[in-house]
Amino acid sequence: MNILIKNGTLITASDTFEADILIEGETIAQIGRDLQHPNAEVIDAAGKLIMPGGIDPHVHLDLPMFGTVSSDDHYTGHKAAAFGGTTTVMDFVVLENEGFDHSVDLWMKKAEKAAIDYSFHMNLTNFNDKIAKEIPSLMKMGIQTLKVFTAYNGRLRIDDGSIFKALRIAKENGMLMMAHCENGDVIEALIPEALAAGHTTPEWHAYTRPAWGAVEATLRMAAMAEQADSPVYIVHMNAGGEVDMLKYARENGVKVMGETCPQYLFFTIDHLYRPDGAKWICSPPMRTDRDNVRLWEGLSGGVLQTVGTDHCPFYFDGTSPIVYEGSEIAIPGKELGKDDFTKIPNGLPGIQDRMPIMWTYGVRAGYITPNQFVAYNCTNPAKIFGLYPRKGALIPGADADIVIWDPEKQVKYGVAHSHQRTDYNLYEGWELAGYPEKVFLRGKLIVDGEEWKGKRGDGQFLKRGEGEIL
Ligand code: URP
Ligand code: ZN
Ligand code: ZN
Repeated sequence: MNILIKNGTLITASDTFEADILIEGETIAQIGRDLQHPNAEVIDAAGKLIMPGGIDPHVHLDLPMFGTVSSDDHYTGHKAAAFGGTTTVMDFVVLENEGFDHSVDLWMKKAEKAAIDYSFHMNLTNFNDKIAKEIPSLMKMGIQTLKVFTAYNGRLRIDDGSIFKALRIAKENGMLMMAHCENGDVIEALIPEALAAGHTTPEWHAYTRPAWGAVEATLRMAAMAEQADSPVYIVHMNAGGEVDMLKYARENGVKVMGETCPQYLFFTIDHLYRPDGAKWICSPPMRTDRDNVRLWEGLSGGVLQTVGTDHCPFYFDGTSPIVYEGSEIAIPGKELGKDDFTKIPNGLPGIQDRMPIMWTYGVRAGYITPNQFVAYNCTNPAKIFGLYPRKGALIPGADADIVIWDPEKQVKYGVAHSHQRTDYNLYEGWELAGYPEKVFLRGKLIVDGEEWKGKRGDGQFLKRGEGEIL
């Protein structure tokens, strides 16, 4: 099947220009002016913007947590992603005691229902000689990334010495370490104090996870990366001071890169004080207006490299079902922590919201340019995570993952408009100007306006090789 998209305005990470795109089968065959093809289906994209499919480098689908599970799986989350213009997602594999092979197998099974393309990062939540020896085998499986945590003591955290050793192994094997930066020791001291003082409401989630912990852990990770001569990617940057640390480290030649997420650009601890504050509970937590501003500066000034979502949705009220594809479904959610903030499942929806929200409230609001929008949401994740130029690029030979974006489409956004499988949306009632109109995955139309044309099982696992350091 050949498709000729004519008269659109192409937006890449570096350029904006008018051109036609010829798709042959699963890939982009040609880009140029006045392209013709004898038997291609022609789509007139006059007045529309054409971008590479989004790449979300940070999602948690079907993730067991706090006695429940994140409410989007590898089908429902993929479908929601596609409606928001994203055609590739990267999920995190939980490391089981049986080791990497077994853990990856389990995640591969979960992802058999994939509707868009996907790859995996490995959570390095345990470290010993055996695990150290087996890390290179991940690269053979196409898993180029390890995530470490400087928080969640006794559960997910490994100590700094182990992180340092793992950084060296990553370096030797062309792998990249990703880091969740908070101060686990401080958090573990503050939580019991807060509970003993009777503080059980959602805002205490933020007070017990202070921003300075994120700031010093970011600098600590950068310092370890420099000492191991290995790159590091800081996930979900949320505090203004983290941007300062990132800038300082990068200016001093450290190979450190940073991701932020929309929730840290728009919301603050004030949202946690609301009666429905649990909707905004995630780790790291919401910060302050000043942090929002500094993160925007990090994007506009090019200190940060990517925007991911950390999509890890839960219902606000998991006792009441919602209707999903014609069936009622209820999944325990935030209500589990109604009397104790430490029991609220950590995580937010965002996989569909990312690009539409960043377009209206980032590009149209003047914080970032359309090219930066493509760089942060599409091209940079592809480069950093070893998928470029197959993904994240509008060039001949690339996968035809393409979004036709209607810059004039007006949407009053919210849970009714979203395909994320949860009962709320953080951007309820927000007015959007600009929205994906058609989304192609490897040449196949999977979203056509409001219509879902994708299928379970159509998504492919992407083996990733060595990435670029941006
Ligand atoms: O609250 C969050 N972010 N849950 C997902 C796990 C993580 O640390 O990214
Ligand atoms: Zn994290
Ligand atoms: Zn995460």
